[in-house]
Amino acid sequence: MNATDQPATGVVPAHVAIVMDGNGRWARQRLLPRVAGHRAGMEALRRTLTHAVRRGVRVLTVFAFSSENWARPPDEVAAILRLLGQALIDEVPRLHEAGVRLRVVGAREGLEPALVDGIAEAERRTAANTALTLNVCFNYGGRWDIVQAARRLAETGAPITERTLAEALALAHVPDPDLVIRTGGEQRISNFVLWQLAYSELFFTDCLWPAFDEAEFDRALAAYARRQRRFGRTPEQVAAPAA
Ligand code: FPP
Repeated sequence: MNATDQPATGVVPAHVAIVMDGNGRWARQRLLPRVAGHRAGMEALRRTLTHAVRRGVRVLTVFAFSSENWARPPDEVAAILRLLGQALIDEVPRLHEAGVRLRVVGAREGLEPALVDGIAEAERRTAANTALTLNVCFNYGGRWDIVQAARRLAETGAPITERTLAEALALAHVPDPDLVIRTGGEQRISNFVLWQLAYSELFFTDCLWPAFDEAEFDRALAAYARRQRRFGRTPEQVAAPAA
């Protein structure tokens, strides 16, 4: 949105996807309960979203609750569910004002009807916004997504091709991520957007998610700008695409 303070060189990724890891450790370092880490993580998400708009990122996809996170202690699961419910109430007016389209991506099974209704209402309200699309992956897994897409195709009898499968995925409304950031020091994908990550650039940082700030985000954007994306071609072909 604000073209004047773009990074000086390189291209800005249109779609940034983030594994927001490290909330629990951030809280433990401060002798706080894990849920305090998730609350601080929500603050980091606000900051990151604002900066993404400022830098001209068009799509931000974040991993907020995985299909596997149900295995966490029940009080932590309940706290994360409450955080999403509260965010739908507190944040959506601000998101709407900033021109953000919100999509909550993942299975609705297992979620309370009131939460499912709140999600539908927030998505409906922000559907026409164009500044940035925020995908909150919630009750989501990359494998879940591929299976639900394959099931849908099988049910309709549609031919199964890379294109039809990609179009049946829960993230089909956005282009594939250009850059994936994982905070918290681990270097793995953890069942995040598996199909669409085929050619994404990866950036790993030790920074714990609640501490992720504008400077760290800019470091990731700068690292991305230095990469040469080849999509299976040779460096020479990329340098001279007409050859
Ligand atoms: C991973 O850190 C974080 C999560 C599983 C939850 C992410 C939630 C937020 C950032 C809050 C925003 C929430 C919504 C609903 C938009 P971890 O708990 O695995 O940290 P650890 O690896 O240090 O234990």
